[in-house]
Amino acid sequence: MTSSDLSTIPRPGVAPGPLHRSVCAQLRAHQAAVAGVHMRELFAADPRRFERFSLQVGDLLLDYSKNRITEETMALLVRLAEEADVAGWRDRMFGGEKINTTENRAVLHVALRNRSNAPVMVDGEDVMPRVNAVIDRMGVFAEKVRSGEWRGYSGKRITDVVNIGIGGSDLGPQMVYQALKPYRHPHLKVHFISNVDGAHVKEALEALDPGTTLFVVSSKTFTTQETMTNANHARAWFLAQSQAVEHVARHFVAVSANREAVAAFGIDPAGMFEMWDWVGGRYSLWSAIGLSIVLAVGAERFVELLAGAHAMDTHFRTAPLAQNMPVILALLGVWYNNFFGAESHAILPYDHYLRSLPAYLEQADMESNGKSVDRDGHAVDYATGQIIWGATGINGQHAFYQLLHQGTRLIPADFIVSVTPHTELQAHHDILIANFLAQTEALMRGRTLEETRAQTGQASPFKVFDGNHPSNAILLQQITPHTLGMLLALYEHKIFVQGVIWNLDSYDQWGVELGKQLASRILPELHAPAPVGGHDASTNALINYYRRMSQRHPKM
Ligand code: F6P
Repeated sequence: MTSSDLSTIPRPGVAPGPLHRSVCAQLRAHQAAVAGVHMRELFAADPRRFERFSLQVGDLLLDYSKNRITEETMALLVRLAEEADVAGWRDRMFGGEKINTTENRAVLHVALRNRSNAPVMVDGEDVMPRVNAVIDRMGVFAEKVRSGEWRGYSGKRITDVVNIGIGGSDLGPQMVYQALKPYRHPHLKVHFISNVDGAHVKEALEALDPGTTLFVVSSKTFTTQETMTNANHARAWFLAQSQAVEHVARHFVAVSANREAVAAFGIDPAGMFEMWDWVGGRYSLWSAIGLSIVLAVGAERFVELLAGAHAMDTHFRTAPLAQNMPVILALLGVWYNNFFGAESHAILPYDHYLRSLPAYLEQADMESNGKSVDRDGHAVDYATGQIIWGATGINGQHAFYQLLHQGTRLIPADFIVSVTPHTELQAHHDILIANFLAQTEALMRGRTLEETRAQTGQASPFKVFDGNHPSNAILLQQITPHTLGMLLALYEHKIFVQGVIWNLDSYDQWGVELGKQLASRILPELHAPAPVGGHDASTNALINYYRRMSQRHPKM
């Protein structure tokens, strides 16, 4: 796609959206003027470019100077944010207004980490007392488990926690559990089961003792097929040994917004940790969905995580748009997505503990902004959510970076780095950092034919690097609960700002529904006595192939 695809003339039936503002025409003209400019030239022309295009918030530094921008670019992009009323939408979100219009819900993950305790009103009620009560209950419960006071049915101490959940009820807690490894309880392991493939639950349980295992069934709706199937299996596995349903209460707790379904599953309401409909699944690690995090790192650390997110919330609420870290990241994303036609965005953590961050952000971003109908119900005629992907950067260097450096696509990337490592292996860390720096420099500068000749003795076109590939560098002082909270809130708000600019409801996810419906229709057909014929030819044939072959080759 090129910038000219962002037509200012709406398609029939397509409402003029925010990308039809006059500032967008100016941005298109500006893009045409700067598209041929190399970042090398921009750096050469301005020795203060780093100072100009970097920003520090607490222990987070954002260097965005290696982007294809000038001061004019940023001024125009900030105008776009102003015209899209980012500040107004932000205030409506923090104010508890029902900005998730298609579900008629407020969007208040920010209330979950509102450490100032200022009232947050939803439907005339301050939600903070309930939020704080749940955080307190989580802390008290986790402390009992961590200290060994909470015992299994046979009197043994809990050694393993199994979080059963999927999507936001899995990816967030799992990523944080991994990221905060240095802060974990030494004798309490947390396992995560998400996939309905029986291999996942079977393998996880094989290594566990029912008498020392605590299950946290995490599901906002408590109806998610994968989670309930795995939870039922875990319950049967537990009962096969414990032989008494009254023991379930010591080994199963639930996190949900659906009290009735939790009770119907057989979990004592006293063992339920509440969340609310104004917490979106992919924004829920701050809620009781974070129970497995609290069990792992303790209440104090969890509160530090919340406080980090709150610090970023405060920055997002109060900093002018031009010096607002989430806004800047969002605008740069819009710049490449809508004016350069970039289709994807890479997340490249240079940190082993952040290795699950790309998967977490895939859901956070793509489930939020992967939409083609705007919040007014009109089809959009501009690109919305980018494809988010990534992996630990250092491993990526030996895998997919070839395409970043010499491929034909423009792929903006975020490099995420911590200054102070958690191990004493400083030499390793220096190598890691040197590589991060080298990669961002190489992506920006490239290597001309002349330089290739000078450096390699050959004027080989295969060894030339065009450069001019944009990247952001986000440096955390160290991965701590606080900096991690800041980092995650930074991305949440980036996604929010982009959703506002694209005029989307970033907090629904209707796109996941159709597949779920079809799966429940297909499930009984897999073992139907007669061939199935109610679908298209491909789906019919595949169902019937599966019916025949699974009978012929039953599991061994
Ligand atoms: O199907 C998508 C989704 O609804 C996600 O948005 C959510 O995070 C996940 O499923 C899990 O949902 P629940 O917590 O209700 O089981």
